[in-house]
Amino acid sequence: MTKPQINRELRHQLPSWQHLRYAEVPRWQALHLREVWGDATQAAQRVHDLTRCHDGLRLDFSKQRIDPQTLSHLLSLAEEVQLPEAIAGLMRGDRVNLTEDRAALHTALRLPKSAELVVEGEDVVAQVHSSLARVRGMVQRIHERQWRGVTGEAMTDVVCIGVGGSDLGPYLVTNALAEFAPPMAQALRIHFVSSIDGTQIADLLNTLRQDSTLLVIASKSFTTLDTLSNAETALTWMQSRLKQRERILQHHVVGISAKPEKMTAYGIPEANQIRLWDWVGGRFSLWSGIGFPIALKLGMAGFEQLLAGAHAMDEHFRTAPLADNLPVIMGLLMAWNSTFLGINGQAILPYDARLKLFPSYLTQLEMESNGKSVDRYGDPVPYDTCPILWGEVGSNAQHAFYQLLHQGTQPVACDFIAPIRRYQRADESGLALQHQHELSLANCFAQARVLMLGDDTGVAHRYYHGNQPSSTLLMDVLTPYRLGQLIALYEHKVFVASVIWDINPFDQWGVELGKQLASSTHAAMTQRQPDLSAFDASTQALLEAVRS
Ligand code: F6P
Repeated sequence: MTKPQINRELRHQLPSWQHLRYAEVPRWQALHLREVWGDATQAAQRVHDLTRCHDGLRLDFSKQRIDPQTLSHLLSLAEEVQLPEAIAGLMRGDRVNLTEDRAALHTALRLPKSAELVVEGEDVVAQVHSSLARVRGMVQRIHERQWRGVTGEAMTDVVCIGVGGSDLGPYLVTNALAEFAPPMAQALRIHFVSSIDGTQIADLLNTLRQDSTLLVIASKSFTTLDTLSNAETALTWMQSRLKQRERILQHHVVGISAKPEKMTAYGIPEANQIRLWDWVGGRFSLWSGIGFPIALKLGMAGFEQLLAGAHAMDEHFRTAPLADNLPVIMGLLMAWNSTFLGINGQAILPYDARLKLFPSYLTQLEMESNGKSVDRYGDPVPYDTCPILWGEVGSNAQHAFYQLLHQGTQPVACDFIAPIRRYQRADESGLALQHQHELSLANCFAQARVLMLGDDTGVAHRYYHGNQPSSTLLMDVLTPYRLGQLIALYEHKVFVASVIWDINPFDQWGVELGKQLASSTHAAMTQRQPDLSAFDASTQALLEAVRS
């Protein structure tokens, strides 16, 4: 691969980088967040300077270890690394995924039908909308009870089998937005199964009836062992009652993959196949046919709202000036905290249990994308990249790991995320959910405040050191459109950070070796490969323990 000029190994030698490293960092190392507020006028100005509002979202990053001066140097860095050009290249379909030599066109998946995007001679918008039309047709048949099983029954349960990007996105969205299910979808139960060990699928199948169960096998590569082994177990269960595998595959199975030939070889009829493309990264794929369970849950109109929210965020990302651009600010903050300030923990704290799966969704999106230590051309980067990211519904986490945030030894940056109002369904009108939601918000604001300011009563074990930076991201209300915006916001934030770090966020070579070694390890475990000498002593002993 040719190594182009564009500042490849020079990231840390760029003027803004140098200035941040040698002038801004020492300034912040000497400052506590409680010292940055000044008098009431200065404090109000700080909030004003470090808050951005856009289309129902409000990002307050005034509790970060940053001020307008530092921000302006970060924005200069964004210019120096040619972030605007990188954004344009991403969206027009450049082969930004260098190691796999392909585009990363998740933004094309939410383009409206009227848009135009021709990439390397292919009309991408037409492909996307023809796949959406197929999804629409299938969803309609299932909702209208026209999709019938082998014994003539309509479907009551859908078992979605996938893992990673073929699982986490649809799992997150169907969970978060369950209350938006239209009447036709409410009778349909949607389940998700991912883990290879079989416990999840066995527990689930015990509660279902074959006659009215649809299996959705989602795998971009259609080779992932986790998914294929769960699919086999589910098919065996189907066959135990409905007998003929071929008829089961016709009436009870939908396949979603970028490899139609593999679905066909598996026996899934073409009419039951939903296609995606190589240029859709797994962890960016919920907007494609992988989102079929979302369309089943929310109806096509709800899925389209989700896509519209994401598209609106794409437009904001593409057109807003860097200084007002939410994903840009969030990406710069991540790089500032991790690379410059040495804060290598990032907690994701939604104060709304409907977003409980958002932290695990983000662990894949962020860490599989930016958990890298070589730049786009394979040279080691001499700085820290993606922090360790984890999270939980904030109010629950307060009773679990917040102790470490308040009094531990690790600096951790936090993202607090919450809707301002609780959308209340008509059938919930008797419940005081808005009141409970306000309690949750009060906890959110109180925690962010203590994490920033700390507290000193003079008693050592009651000392809160504070100075933990955080952003608070509020939305007016959680809807399909807002969730689309929110997820796209984080997708783009990940991209921004990757450009600052000069790494390719769209490959994941780090997960390959373990997968390959698992098959030789399995052969040794089951005695198909009796000789254990190729293994290290620890693994040999573990294998012996299993064998015996
Ligand atoms: O092992 C990681 C991974 O490759 C993810 O990147 C991907 O989302 C997941 O496995 C599932 O892959 P597939 O959709 O091909 O089954």
